[in-house]
Amino acid sequence: MLENPLLSVKDLSISFNTNEGKFNAVDGVSFDVNKGEIFALVGESGCGKSTTAFGLMRLIPKPGEISQGKIIFDGKNLVKLPEDEMPQIRGKEIGMIFQNPLDSLNPVYSVGKQIYEGLILDNIGKQDAWKRVVDIFNDVQISDPKERIESYPHELSGGMRQRVMIAMMLSRRPKLLIADEPTTALDVTIQAQILELIKELRDTFNTAVLIITHDFGVVAEIADKVGVMYAGKIVEVGDVYQIFENPLHPYTKLLMKALPRITKQEGRLETISGTVPNLVSPPKGCRFHPRCPMATDICAVEAPVFKEAEKNHRYCCHLEVKKRGTHH
Ligand SMILES: Nc1ncnc2c1ncn2[C@@H]1O[C@H](COP(=O)(O)OP(=O)(O)OP(=O)(O)O)[C@@H](O)[C@H]1O
Ligand code: SF4
Ligand SMILES: [Mg+2]
Repeated sequence: MLENPLLSVKDLSISFNTNEGKFNAVDGVSFDVNKGEIFALVGESGCGKSTTAFGLMRLIPKPGEISQGKIIFDGKNLVKLPEDEMPQIRGKEIGMIFQNPLDSLNPVYSVGKQIYEGLILDNIGKQDAWKRVVDIFNDVQISDPKERIESYPHELSGGMRQRVMIAMMLSRRPKLLIADEPTTALDVTIQAQILELIKELRDTFNTAVLIITHDFGVVAEIADKVGVMYAGKIVEVGDVYQIFENPLHPYTKLLMKALPRITKQEGRLETISGTVPNLVSPPKGCRFHPRCPMATDICAVEAPVFKEAEKNHRYCCHLEVKKRGTHH
């Protein structure tokens, strides 16, 4: 019998009520992540990737809220969990690393101390905890760990801080690691090392990973499964080889062709013409139709529904595709 997925997101919507109006930044999103699996969520800036991640941690800032759906994690629906049970989930069961580790490292404590405090929370004795901190720094390939644990976050390079973040996550052995653009700010060599480290974490502890990126290079490097997001919705999901060998949604195809070019707004894509729509009044029918080279009349009128192209490979578009391996 197949095991249940570790994380099963079902029809999740997250809305923001702003001066301009109410909109769903995440709109009916569903996906599963199995134990030991690396799931990449991909899409342009503003399509709702980070909001999805923060939603899983129940960290949506006001005026935002989870307005619909379920987040089944390890058998529990996190949407319904009492707030006082969330701290046990955050950090301990679900770890999160951010694009900018300075956002989540405390500037006034040494990095070793911050990891140590987490271990103490897990009832590990003081002596053992310090030993563990040094071991973990070794695991994430931080040189001179005995000295490094004394450093403050601002004394470390970007790559080193990201290692510290990963060390912090590793120390508490979460079942799920959420990594939101963990390598975007880093140069390519360090980026490759950090991705390697995340893979090792998965291989050693069978940790499930949800990695968020706009870079298909990162996806190719690390992912087992891929979900492509556009304007708050997942438009295609599949195993990594299905997405690369046989992308079906026109948006996926364009995104894959668009190499990430660094523009004035750092790290943003500028290669697909047009922009992500205003979500307060999104385009009728398929939200991608104003930008889609394949659009037909129906696309502006009727929202497409998901179709299954192959086992595990689904896409949300009016276009019909031939099954692979069949001849016309
Ligand atoms: N606190 C907030 N208040 C109002 N709107 C928000 C808030 N946070 C996010 N949004 C809006 O929700 C939408 C999705 O934003 P989100 O940050 O999830 O996108 P993203 O895919 O992570 O983009 P990026 O690649 O730039 O990180 C955007 O339209 C954004 O402006
Ligand atoms: S439904 Fe139509 S507009 Fe939307 S992606 Fe498919 S072809 Fe393009
Ligand atoms: Mg984001």
